[in-house]
Amino acid sequence: MQLTDSNSSYGDELVIALMGKGGTGKTFTSLGMIQALRSLGKSLIVADADPNRSLSRYLASHYLENAEEELKNLPLMTQAEKDFYEFQGLSPEIIYRDFYSYPLDRVQKFSINPADWFTQKYVRYVTDGLGLMSVGTSALHKEELYSTRCSHATLNPLKSWLALCTNGVVVVDCGGGEDAGRFGLPIGAHVVVVVVEATPDSVAISEDIRAIDEELQIPVVYVLNKCLNQFPEVEAFESQNSDKIIGTIPFIPSVYGKNPLELKDEIGKDIFSGIIDKILVRELSSPTQRWERVLRWKENLQKQQQLKQVKALSSVS
Ligand SMILES: Nc1ncnc2c1ncn2[C@@H]1O[C@H](COP(=O)(O)OP(=O)(O)OP(=O)(O)O)[C@@H](O)[C@H]1O
Ligand SMILES: [Mg+2]
Repeated sequence: MQLTDSNSSYGDELVIALMGKGGTGKTFTSLGMIQALRSLGKSLIVADADPNRSLSRYLASHYLENAEEELKNLPLMTQAEKDFYEFQGLSPEIIYRDFYSYPLDRVQKFSINPADWFTQKYVRYVTDGLGLMSVGTSALHKEELYSTRCSHATLNPLKSWLALCTNGVVVVDCGGGEDAGRFGLPIGAHVVVVVVEATPDSVAISEDIRAIDEELQIPVVYVLNKCLNQFPEVEAFESQNSDKIIGTIPFIPSVYGKNPLELKDEIGKDIFSGIIDKILVRELSSPTQRWERVLRWKENLQKQQQLKQVKALSSVS
């Protein structure tokens, strides 16, 4: 599958991550984009990276008969560590930080279509051509709840999978706020769509999220959602970012709180197909460029840690 004929800067993959302040409409926009991609005939994997799992719930209740039961039994990327190590041929003493310094030819790429064994194991196909990959609330597992390990660590298999997946389309719905950016979850994405609610507060927070993504060198675009009142701050944001705003969605009261997959004509379908069109014409990163971001991120992490040590030593002396 070639995503676009004119774009030769990348292979057959496209990873779109959605970020934004809590409640701005990331899950709603993810589902709209998923439907638009499906109507273009693209098979795809939806990665629900939010431990609250709204997206998984919407997909399960729309497509699966025993949604609650199915949700309980979803394979979870937060528990994929052992398989991840096996897939990458890593010995147990290797830590992720080491892995993030391997050159691309030393790591195994994942394949979406056809799915390699790891991808197959951690994706639940809810219908033809639509796979769901999900994280779970790892704190519900006692060993995680009482462990001193940072919960971010459980997302390493997903982060690496996103950076190394090939041959398919992935839409990643991140949890709310800047947190996903702080630990580099979307670092392998081709583009981050920051969903901005059209309020002064959300605009300000989206700027912080953009700054993180730009530091990580991930291309950023915006979707302005729930547009209702005219705020000068929002208008200023619009005029400053006109080249990066790929969609504007009104506030639609009849949509609020509903499963976006159950909606009929409440939202013009063109809104989401327009958003997808604008992403597809963009110059996207190659697999090498995506992995280089991971390597650079790891180097910066290391530099920051060394700086901290130097500061600590100088305050002692
Ligand atoms: N354009 C819109 N018009 C009206 N309601 C909307 C619109 N977009 C989203 N909503 C509603 O806003 C609420 C939050 O949306 P959604 O769950 O998609 O946000 P989110 O950013 O994914 O939230 P979270 O940060 O909790 O994951 C939902 O009830 C949804 O139905
Ligand atoms: Mg959400």
